[in-house]
Amino acid sequence: MSKFTVVNHPLIAHKLSLMRQTETSTKDFRTLLEEISLLMGYEVTRDLPLKEITIQTPMCETKAFELSGRAIGVVPILRAGLGMVNGILTLVPNAKVGHIGLYRDPETHQPVEYYCKLPQDATERRLIVVDPMLATGGSAVAAIGFLKQRGCNDIKLMCLIAAPEGVKAVQKAHPDVDIYVASLDERLNEHAYIIPGLGDAGDRIFGTK
Ligand code: PRP
Ligand code: URA
Repeated sequence: MSKFTVVNHPLIAHKLSLMRQTETSTKDFRTLLEEISLLMGYEVTRDLPLKEITIQTPMCETKAFELSGRAIGVVPILRAGLGMVNGILTLVPNAKVGHIGLYRDPETHQPVEYYCKLPQDATERRLIVVDPMLATGGSAVAAIGFLKQRGCNDIKLMCLIAAPEGVKAVQKAHPDVDIYVASLDERLNEHAYIIPGLGDAGDRIFGTK
């Protein structure tokens, strides 16, 4: 079974409370999402392997560490996942970015695929799939399935808010994919929206409603 982590940090909790509030502006919502993504990125990258190297300081030669192992790829699920990309890129500026386009059919709540463009060397990278909302899990399960079909096998999922149903669905379909969230909320409503949640993340990021 994969690892499920709620990233607990006072700054994340405070910023997420601001994001949830109806009166928070589009501009503030976007900024807060980017800031939380950066803070969560610290936890998501915690197990990156290091190798020992020898360096020269102005004082002496010493042993130090540098990142080794796979390069990083960030894969936002369009649209709302775009709001989490810059936070990770601030931490890992050399990461490449792939895009997967999915939307939830409003009637069936099933994900519909409309776009996929990945870095050429995606199969050699550690991929961090990002999407603020993990509701039924349908979108994340499909996006990760997409990546696996293309040969990617080192994948983590980072979301802002999850419903228990979504976590279960991803763990069942992709037991090798660790999941990181800022909050595990109570439940889904009858329209498959997360309660208490924050409403429609894509609309709040881009000001489309
Ligand atoms: C939202 C959200 C996830 C999905 C979560 O996207 O950003 O991708 O719903 O729901 P699920 O877990 O039930 O699949 P939406 O379909 O609203 O598209 P958008 O990002 O373009 O707004
Ligand atoms: N997508 C959203 O943007 N919000 C939800 O609560 C569920 C799915």
